[in-house]
Amino acid sequence: MACETLLLFGATGDLARRMLLPSLFVLHADGLVPDCLQIVGTARSMLSDAEWRTMARQALAQFLPPDRIDDAQITSFVERLRYQPLDASQPEGFAALADKIGDSPRGIAIFLSTAPQLFEPTIAGLKAAGLTGENVRIGLEKPLGRDLASSRAINDAVASAFPEERTFRIDHYLGKETVQNLLALRFANMMFEPLWNANGIDHVQITVSETVGLEGRIDFYDEAGALRDMVQNHMLQLLALVAMEPPASFDATAIRDEKVKVLRSLRRIDADSAPSHSVIGQYAPGASRGEAVPGYTDELGKASHTETFVALKAHVDNWRWQGVPFYLRTGKRLPSRQSEIFIQFKQVPYSIFAKRGGRLKANKLVIRLQPEEYIRLLVMAKEPGMDREGITLREVPLDLSLTHAFAGARKRIAYERLLLDLIEGDPTLFVRRDEVEAQWEWIDAIRAGWTANQMEPKPYGAGSWGPSAAIALTERDGVSWHD
Ligand code: BG6
Repeated sequence: MACETLLLFGATGDLARRMLLPSLFVLHADGLVPDCLQIVGTARSMLSDAEWRTMARQALAQFLPPDRIDDAQITSFVERLRYQPLDASQPEGFAALADKIGDSPRGIAIFLSTAPQLFEPTIAGLKAAGLTGENVRIGLEKPLGRDLASSRAINDAVASAFPEERTFRIDHYLGKETVQNLLALRFANMMFEPLWNANGIDHVQITVSETVGLEGRIDFYDEAGALRDMVQNHMLQLLALVAMEPPASFDATAIRDEKVKVLRSLRRIDADSAPSHSVIGQYAPGASRGEAVPGYTDELGKASHTETFVALKAHVDNWRWQGVPFYLRTGKRLPSRQSEIFIQFKQVPYSIFAKRGGRLKANKLVIRLQPEEYIRLLVMAKEPGMDREGITLREVPLDLSLTHAFAGARKRIAYERLLLDLIEGDPTLFVRRDEVEAQWEWIDAIRAGWTANQMEPKPYGAGSWGPSAAIALTERDGVSWHD
């Protein structure tokens, strides 16, 4: 008998094949989930258990790193898998789903990723089938709405069956190891926090650049655009972790209380400030990693006003961050895949080296999330020598390469961590409703600002760093993007 069940909606979809099944397999292989956990998959396709298991085997063969492939472990993993076809728009099917799950005394964790219009019927179906009891928690994958109003409607539908403490909103960036390491860097070390404010920091940059284009997600992406797809969730979560006050403890309430305060302190970018504080772009034909690639509208097959690039100048209006710009930038078809947080510290108040020719650069801290994971502090050092011609100072990196420092530790992908937390019921790395709503409120004002100013995305060549206006956005302040 199963002691616990993970119920996977969208079981035949891209996310399940690429990320969820491989992550679950690794948790299984590493002995991190109970032996009696069963994984029930559901989707519209009329598959049997055996057919879904075959699909899972194919997905594992395709998406697991080669060193993780182990036939015996794969065989024991797929034995956990069971499948129930379901048309979530039809209430009748949910009883069969409940039968398939059977008894699950230690509880059920649901992973729900579905089209927006299916949220309400799915929740209603789960409720009617008795799948919303006290030992059931629900994980929700994006997109959870396209603005504040639609996000509230989804949250209300979910709240009618699941209280907030059993609702786990996924932002997979919070599952990334270096993102969690940011908390360790800030709150497990003495040397950063005293400088972590407007006295010590000149500005912050957050870049999430991708080389990929549409990747076949035509309908979804064209409806969303870069602001909703990346800034509303991932980038604002990164900003909140950088800017938040020290939480009282490492627990879900304390951390999320501090994040939401930051999100609510974001200065609105509205109709007045949108033209000076935001830049939007859409990729035109160009070259990506040495190959000619088509433009966005060619891939889409129609004209579009959707932005594939956005750059913003944001401010957190509180004491700690007064006067410190947070520059955010994300886009598709940029020159490299690079996610990082870049902290530019202030210059020393006075240079004792100036009269001896020494030039100073202000310290910088780079927190690189991907493709590599490292934290690098750039500090000034004197070049070795007799200094007869003056003192030469040079910026040198103090590197904390997480890949090297923890070489023995297996690099885990975000969904491994988040699925395990969902199964075990730890909400710390999930997003609370008040955070999501504060995020949407800020994003909606920006979109309204674009509409009021009739702002259209400016074209940029695929493989470039976005429209030139994005460079001007920071250069006006005497700041260069850290590429
Ligand atoms: C997703 C977006 O949330 O994040 C995608 O919908 C994007 O458009 C992806 O490609 C990026 O995630 P990662 O982990 O590859 O940086």
